[in-house]
Amino acid sequence: MQHVVGQPAVRAPAVASVASRVRSGLVHTSALRSLASTQAPASCSHRCGLGARTCRSAQPGRRRVAAAAFEPEDDGLAASANDVQEARIVVITSGKGGVGKTTSSANLGMSIARLGYKVCLIDADIGLRNLDLLLGLENRILYTAIDILDGECRLDQALIRDKRWKNLSLLSMSRNRQRYNVTRAHMVQLCEAIIALGYQFIILDCPAGIDVGFINAISPAKEALIVTTPEITSIRDADRVAGLLEANGIYNVKLLVNRVRPDMIQKNDMMSVKDVQEMLGIPLLGAIPEDPQVIISTNRGEPLVLQKQLSLSGIAFENAARRLIGKQDYFVDLNNPHKGLFQKIGEMFQG
Ligand SMILES: Nc1ncnc2c1ncn2[C@@H]1O[C@H](COP(=O)(O)OP(=O)(O)OP(=O)(O)O)[C@@H](O)[C@H]1O
Ligand SMILES: [Mg+2]
Repeated sequence: MQHVVGQPAVRAPAVASVASRVRSGLVHTSALRSLASTQAPASCSHRCGLGARTCRSAQPGRRRVAAAAFEPEDDGLAASANDVQEARIVVITSGKGGVGKTTSSANLGMSIARLGYKVCLIDADIGLRNLDLLLGLENRILYTAIDILDGECRLDQALIRDKRWKNLSLLSMSRNRQRYNVTRAHMVQLCEAIIALGYQFIILDCPAGIDVGFINAISPAKEALIVTTPEITSIRDADRVAGLLEANGIYNVKLLVNRVRPDMIQKNDMMSVKDVQEMLGIPLLGAIPEDPQVIISTNRGEPLVLQKQLSLSGIAFENAARRLIGKQDYFVDLNNPHKGLFQKIGEMFQG
C-alpha cells in the first residue's frame, strides 16, 4: 500500500481528555512488597501459567483469585502470520534515557500486529511505566505482572488487549512507583507463559540505565534493538549496552537511530545515520526522523503507525517493523521519502 507523507488530518486535540489520561495512572499508592520465602506446593491450581515456583498464589497464606470465574477467552487469533516458527523475544534498550525506547516499542509493536502477528508488549519499566499512555490503554489496566507474581490475578487478566488490533496486548510490570523484587527468573517465566498463550512476538520496553531493571528486562530476550539518537552521549551509552548484551549472551542485536534531522546532517551539525552505524558496528534496522507528530501521537494515545495519512516517522517505523520481521525492505530515505519504485529496486540490486 502506498502511503502519503504529509500532515495527518487535524482532529480536535481534546486537551481535557489528554490531561485526564495523564492524570490517570499517576495516582497509585506505592506498595513495597517482599517475596516471603514460603515453600510452594507442588502445583499451582489456578491458571496464571507461571507454575508453582513463581506463582505467588500457589503459596500458602496468599489470597487466591477464583479461577473458574475468569476462564481465559479463546481469542481465535492464533498464529495468523504463521511464518514465525519460534516466538521472538526482543528487548528494546538504549542505556541513555529519553531516546525513544517506549515510542519505538509502541510503534514497532503496533506495526507488527498490523502485519498479522500476535504481539505482546511488556512495559518492563518498573515504577515509571509509560507504554500504556502511548497506546491509549492506561484506563484499562487493572492488574500488572506484579499482581500475577503476587497471586492476585492470572496472566490473561493482566494482558490488556488493544481494541484496534486485538492481536496486540500490553502487560505492565507494575503500577507507578510500585516496587517489587522481580527477578530474572520471574521475567523468563512470564515470557514463557505468554508464549504458551500463542504470542509470536514479545517486545520488552526496557528502562533506562544498566542496573537491575535493565538486567531483568534483557534476561528473557533472545535479541535486542538498541535505540540511539545521533548524539555522542547516547552513542557511548549504546556502545556500553551492546557490550553488556553480548556479555549476557544476546548476539542478535540491531540498531535504530531516532530523532534524525537531515537538515542538521547537511550542515554538518549532526552525525549521519551511516556515521552512527559505523561507530557502533551494529546492523541498522532503521532510522526515524525528528517529528513533532511523535508528541501529538503520544498525547492522543495513538501510535504514529495508526494515522490514516502517515507522517515520515510513521513510514519509517513501519519500514523498520517490516525489516524486523525479516522482510527485505528498502531503507526509507529521510531526505527523499517519495523515492520512486525504480530507484528503490535499483538500490536493492546494489545491496
Ligand atoms: N522521533 C521523534 N521525534 C520527536 N520526538 C520524539 C521522537 N522520539 C521520541 N520523541 C520524544 O522523546 C521523548 C522520550 O521518548 P520515549 O519516552 O520514547 O523515550 P524512552 O527512551 O522510552 O525514555 P525513558 O528512558 O525515560 O524510558 C518523548 O517526549 C517523545 O515524545
Ligand atoms: Mg521509556
